[in-house]
Formats: sequence, structure tokens, C-alpha cells
Amino acid sequence: MSRAVRICLLPGDGIGPEITDEAVKVLLALGERHGVVFDLHEALLGGAAIDQTGSALPDRTLAEARAADAVLLAAIGGPAWDTTDPDRPRPEQGLLGLRKELGLFANLRPVRIFAPLADASTLRPDVIDGVDMLIVRELTGGLYFGERAREREVADAGGPGRAGMRAYDTCVYDEFEIERIARTAFEAARGRRRLVHSVDKANVLETSRLWREVVHAVAADYPDVALVDMLVDNAAMQLVRRPAQFDVMVTENMFGDILSDEASMLTGSLGMLASASLGEGTALYEPSHGSAPDIAGRGVANPLAMLLSVELMLRMSLDMDAAADDLSAAIAETLGAGFRTADIAADDTPPELLMGTAEMGDQVVARL
Ligand code: IPM
Ligand code: MG
Repeated sequence: MSRAVRICLLPGDGIGPEITDEAVKVLLALGERHGVVFDLHEALLGGAAIDQTGSALPDRTLAEARAADAVLLAAIGGPAWDTTDPDRPRPEQGLLGLRKELGLFANLRPVRIFAPLADASTLRPDVIDGVDMLIVRELTGGLYFGERAREREVADAGGPGRAGMRAYDTCVYDEFEIERIARTAFEAARGRRRLVHSVDKANVLETSRLWREVVHAVAADYPDVALVDMLVDNAAMQLVRRPAQFDVMVTENMFGDILSDEASMLTGSLGMLASASLGEGTALYEPSHGSAPDIAGRGVANPLAMLLSVELMLRMSLDMDAAADDLSAAIAETLGAGFRTADIAADDTPPELLMGTAEMGDQVVARL
């Protein structure tokens, strides 16, 4: 008898629906081979949800996410909903709300080099040689969720003697929030090379000083794992100078957002970086890239970060390691055979190997 697995699918905006189609193809192919029936429940999130319901995170979407064994999200956002008006809804509120509501405090972003793509990186092959790291980003605290406001008519804010506007965002971290993400990082390091870099700005920020204290306290429980503190500006520099030195990098929400985009370029493209968001509730899997409105609807987006997110989901939430291994091998073989979407193509990629979104998905499915 087949086992049934319930997935909440959130295609979102921009290229989201296109790459979701490829994920569905792959899931159906894997389900057949591995005796699993994927029960797919699609729901609205982000701009698409704003257009249809007025809210970026409709109640039904939250209910679907809670009821699922895992959530698979593509991407949200786009110029149609871009606004600086604090009173208008933004697609990002859907994603941030979902992370908060599901208690997804740990965001894992694996960064590894696919050998056939070594020349797709803007960095020299000898610099990215041996890169295999995991970014553990705190996801429900810090600047993203602290109190923020816009104040009007603030004395002197428009210049001396002139009233003007002021805005602020606050960065707050509670001890327990730092402790649990630190544990996630140390546990992950135990399954890897047993090295944790904790990235902060402890020379300036009070939240970073607390971060450092708590991470060191947690480290005492993991004497077999080495801990290195690194300031965030230095970490940004080390990522392009000698990226292979990193195993697990743990950091707060905003630093992790920025450093993971930077790290993705080691692999050649943001289109190759998957992520898993774990916590108290249903886990969520999504590519680290955005909705790429500039190429949306043209069928040229790279679906691989989405498919790599499916791989993480199979492994981490669905106990389907064999299927995950199959998918991982199929992706590696597809790249090994030379197939490329535009973002990872080289100047000399032959036209017959240059693929669109659906063709790339087909190549992977053919190898399952
Ligand atoms: C990410 C994205 C989101 C973030 C945006 C879309 C709100 O950049 O997942 O990295 O900043 O967390
Ligand atoms: Mg980001």
C-alpha cells in the first residue's frame, strides 16, 4: 500500500508558478518509484494572495500549511506590489508571517559546488575549490520582527529647526532565541566537519554581545565541535577570499539574509541555492532566490534551487532518503551532461544544451 504525504504548495509570484510546475513533475515521478502518493494542496501567498484576498497571508493558506507534512514555497514579490507606503500590504508580509506563525526559527542554506559548474562562478575555480558549507540563519527574530515605525512631524528631523519624518527598526534578541539556533548549528556541525563560525557584530551591537555570550555557553555542551567568532564585515570578506574555510556558519536574521545571497554566488548562481526552514510547526522548503520578475513568464528560470529544496524536504521532513538520493543524483547527472539554464550557462555553452525551465525539469525527470 502506498503511503500518503500531504504537501502544501505555495507557488507565489513571478517565476514561482513556473518552477513549482517542475517540482510537481519531480514529485509525481518520485512518488511512483518510491510508493508514495503526494497529496498536493495549493494555496495563495504573497502578491497573488494580495490580489485575490487583500492579504499576503490568507487564513486558508495558514491552515493548509499547518495541516501539511511539509510546505513547499517557490517565491513571492514583484514590482506590482512594491510600495514604500507602510499602510499598504506587501508580499513579503506573507512569507514573514508564515515563518513567524509556524515558528520556523532555523533557516538552513547549504552551499556546495557542483563540479560541472565550477566555471559558472565569478570567482576563480581555485578559490571555490572544496566549498561545502551550511549557513544557519536565525529566522524569526532581530530587525525583521522588532518594533518599527514611521513618525511624522518630528522636530529637527527635516534639518535644524524643521520638522520632518523619522523611521526606526529595532533589533531585539532574547537569550532563548539565540540558544536554540546555536544548538541547531552545533548539532548540524556534528554531522559535518565539526566547525562552527558564529558571525556577529559584537564590537558595536549589544544584541551581538549577548549572541556571543550565549553561543559560547551552548558550545560548552559540544566540546567536540570547534567554535570561531567572526565579525560580520570580516565574514563577508572571507566568503570571497577563502570560502572553503567554512563548515557551519551561524548568524542572526539580517546578517544571514545578506551573507547567504553572497555565498550563493560561490555556486555560480542564486538559482542553485535551496533552503529549509525548521522550527516548532510544519517545516518549510524554498529556494533562496526571489521571484525574478524580470524573467517571469518567459520559461527561462532555473528550477534547480526549487528541486534542491524538494530534495531537502524529502530528506528532512518526509523520511525519504532514497528518493532524495535519486533526485540529487539526477540533478548532478543533468549538470554533468552539460545542460544549463541561462543563469549558469558559460559563453561557450552550445545552444543545444541551453535549456528553459520545463526542459531542465524534463532532463531531471528523465534521469529519475
Ligand atoms: C530570503 C528573502 C526574504 C528575506 C525576503 C523575500 C523577505 O530575501 O528568504 O532570503 O529577507 O528573508
Ligand atoms: Mg534574502
